[in-house]
Amino acid sequence: MEPDFKQKSIIDKAESYKIFLQQFTSLIEGETHEISVFANTCAALKEAFDFFWVGFYLVDNDTLILGPFQGSVACFSIRKGSGVCGTAWAEEHTIIVPDVDLFPGHIACSSLSRSEIVVPLIINGEVKGVLDIDSDRLNAFDEIDQKYLEETVRLLAETLYNNKK
Ligand code: SME
Repeated sequence: MEPDFKQKSIIDKAESYKIFLQQFTSLIEGETHEISVFANTCAALKEAFDFFWVGFYLVDNDTLILGPFQGSVACFSIRKGSGVCGTAWAEEHTIIVPDVDLFPGHIACSSLSRSEIVVPLIINGEVKGVLDIDSDRLNAFDEIDQKYLEETVRLLAETLYNNKK
């Protein structure tokens, strides 16, 4: 039987995320300062997966404000409902964009960004911000990324907001 390379790459990605989540859990254990945890979350994701850009945009009234990130200079603020980030905020769910050129209203912070995933951080039913990850490859994100990045954000929320000292 021919080897199933696609299957192998899917298993490898899930395995990589599982290892990442183990390390991430111990990295942030007991930490309660939002900015520090967001900053190290970006650093850990960038180091583990070499994403082109990874960062947080944080809700401030009716706008998302650029938070901690790893990558090139990005836009400072995004209105609710604008771009991928503002849409994920308004719709309160993860958005995967296989080709940013095909997403109406996509905000291009870098012309090198080709695909994107945005995961909202929801605390007590309210969006506090979004985790935004860009790739310089088309179609870089799928349901495996969604599953494990949502788990990453869930862990972060549990650590930061349920374990307040
Ligand atoms: N592309 C995003 C803007 C943020 S940058 O990708 C860092 C969007 O459309 O919301």
